[in-house]
Amino acid sequence: MTSNSSVLLPTGQAMPILGFGTWNASGKELEVALDAALTAGYRHIDTATAYENECAIGNTLKKWFDSGKLKRSDLFIVTKLPPNGNRAKDVEKWIKKSLANLQISYLDLYLVHVPFAFENGEDLRPHNENGEIRIDIDTDHLQIWSAMEEQVLEKRTKAIGLSNFNIHQIKKILDNAKLPISNLQIELHVNFQQKELIKFCQDNNISITAYSPLGTRGFLKEIGKANTIPNLLENPTVLEIAEKYKKTPAQILLKHIIQKGIIAIPKSSTSTRIKENIQLFDWELRVEDIDKLNAIDMGESGRICDFSFFKGVEKHPEFPF
Ligand SMILES: NC(=O)c1ccc[n+]([C@@H]2O[C@H](COP(=O)([O-])OP(=O)(O)OC[C@H]3O[C@@H](n4cnc5c(N)ncnc54)[C@H](OP(=O)(O)O)[C@@H]3O)[C@@H](O)[C@H]2O)c1
Repeated sequence: MTSNSSVLLPTGQAMPILGFGTWNASGKELEVALDAALTAGYRHIDTATAYENECAIGNTLKKWFDSGKLKRSDLFIVTKLPPNGNRAKDVEKWIKKSLANLQISYLDLYLVHVPFAFENGEDLRPHNENGEIRIDIDTDHLQIWSAMEEQVLEKRTKAIGLSNFNIHQIKKILDNAKLPISNLQIELHVNFQQKELIKFCQDNNISITAYSPLGTRGFLKEIGKANTIPNLLENPTVLEIAEKYKKTPAQILLKHIIQKGIIAIPKSSTSTRIKENIQLFDWELRVEDIDKLNAIDMGESGRICDFSFFKGVEKHPEFPF
């Protein structure tokens, strides 16, 4: 179920439909950006142990809580179990670390970041001499899910979910879960609309969060792929609709997602864009324009984040794509 500004989870929690993404931001830059985001009205923050930025988020949250401007219950905070902790016996250790870094006593949502696992240890990206990721192929999703459920019972998180899992992997967990899969976080944007996965999640009461909703341009530049992957913000249909509504291309891309009841978590470290990306709640896209945006979908070839930046990860038996 969806209101204009939040999605109701099976746990009864209202998850704000627009969240603040934080991948590829850290330290002072992130503290300033998060300050701007909270000031602009974002109340949902998305992070992950793997982003190595939970401490910066924790520092900013503490400042806001200490000043009395916000209470913990005003926020919806999401973080994720890292791939090197992706085994049942490590779940408790990693969620406790996240809580300590974020300086909070509970999460709103804890996600299994990826279905594959890296070798156990403190190194978030363990790799051998030729740069290949050291994978741990002994991955048991049912045992991991059971350890995730334990975190809810221990009140370390209110809800649990998955990220980057495919339908087959989700089905297996659904068939055995005691607690609901409250959310699935996946790459989703106008070029890659994931229609089959959305239908599956809707049929099974799993809310969806769209990551990289703007096409993750900053990251693509960093890895030298910005010229080989189409820029969603320059798509002619998106530009035409932006012009028609007097909105920015980013606002059109985000509205196209949230108007369908899907949560979006754009990242920005630029204060003007942070404000722009949340100005989505006093206007609507018309059906004919939604249809035009739907038609942009490139299917599987629109996928950007295939984890190929983790060399050799596709050899893991649970590699999802
Ligand atoms: N679960 C997962 O595996 C997974 C994977 C990827 C991402 N995520 C989550 O999803 C979040 C969002 O995805 P993302 O960071 O990959 O990419 P994104 O939000 O699609 O795009 C971020 C990029 O777009 C730029 N940008 C932001 N607002 C803009 C605007 N209004 N106009 C033009 N450019 C704009 C940002 O630049 P500036 O910062 O310079 O403004 C940044 O380079 C992440 O931060 C993370 O929290 C999760």
